[in-house]
Amino acid sequence: MIDQLKKQLEEVKSFTADSQDAIEAFRIKYLGKKGLLNDYFQELRNIPKEEKKVFGQTVNELKIAATEKIQELKNNLQDKEEVKSLYGDLTRPGEPLELGARHPTSLVKNQIIDIFSRIGFTVSEGPEIEDDWHNFTALNLPEYHPARDMQDTFFIQTDPDILLRTHTSSVQVRYMENHKPPIRTISPGRVYRNEAISARSHCFFHQVEGLYIDKGVSFADLKQTLQYFTTALFGKSRIRLRPSYFPFTEPSAEVDVYWGLETETDYRMTKGTGWLEIMGCGMVDPNVLDNCGIDSKEYSGFAFGMGIDRIALLLYQVSDIRLLSENDLRFLKQFKSIL
Ligand code: PHE
Repeated sequence: MIDQLKKQLEEVKSFTADSQDAIEAFRIKYLGKKGLLNDYFQELRNIPKEEKKVFGQTVNELKIAATEKIQELKNNLQDKEEVKSLYGDLTRPGEPLELGARHPTSLVKNQIIDIFSRIGFTVSEGPEIEDDWHNFTALNLPEYHPARDMQDTFFIQTDPDILLRTHTSSVQVRYMENHKPPIRTISPGRVYRNEAISARSHCFFHQVEGLYIDKGVSFADLKQTLQYFTTALFGKSRIRLRPSYFPFTEPSAEVDVYWGLETETDYRMTKGTGWLEIMGCGMVDPNVLDNCGIDSKEYSGFAFGMGIDRIALLLYQVSDIRLLSENDLRFLKQFKSIL
């Protein structure tokens, strides 16, 4: 009898099951009302006295083993089911993850940031709603200065002191007010001008402006920096600087890059000249430095500014600037494969 019990104990210990039904059948077999354990407990009466103790202990052992086994199998089954509901059917094909696309303006902006960060420029940002001081006056454009008209400004009707910034030079003013030279920063951001919307121009667009201030910064530094930039962005190192005018820089220049005249597109884009205008630049006017709390006798610097959208149109051969702000997915999806 004891031997039979021992065998049963082994059986219980090595039993496995992976379904609710199998576990239940096992439970009924051992612990059910008409189960084996009850039979054994009944049997106890008929066991000779001297064997009773060992028999009783073994039956108890069997009972504990069966109870623990059932609990263990139940826990395993539950764990498995939890994993299943968490991951579903692991053999199913994966769900296609729709990959988004970056906006062409962001692509170009990120490229420009990357190029300038390699030569130590930080990125600075500022508010799009500006005051007169940061957008105009500090930049050597006092009230009634005729050059203010160049920048068809959107004013806030109730307060002529508040406006939508017309360039990110306003960020440079803020940066100079809060940092001591040496300063090397670029300011990307959206700007607004009250211009008629057409294929070529929009009432809002994006700029990156750059500022470098230190002791002894010269025009040659500016030229070299710009040449580094055009080579890195366009793969074109031939540039020319044409004299120009900006109230905040003196001397000032427009920067053209030599695009070439190899293809018909080159001809069309450059109107047959091979040259493309890409930005304005100049040496920061000493008045601007003084306005922003930087001693113009000690420091000099250069600044430049360019339109990002124009460059995006150029690089991706897009013919209408309005496409950049219409959120047409058919257009935007085309930039999916470009990181
Ligand atoms: N702020 C000028 C503009 O918006 C660009 C510029 C920046 C020109 C810095 C010269 C120097 O047109």
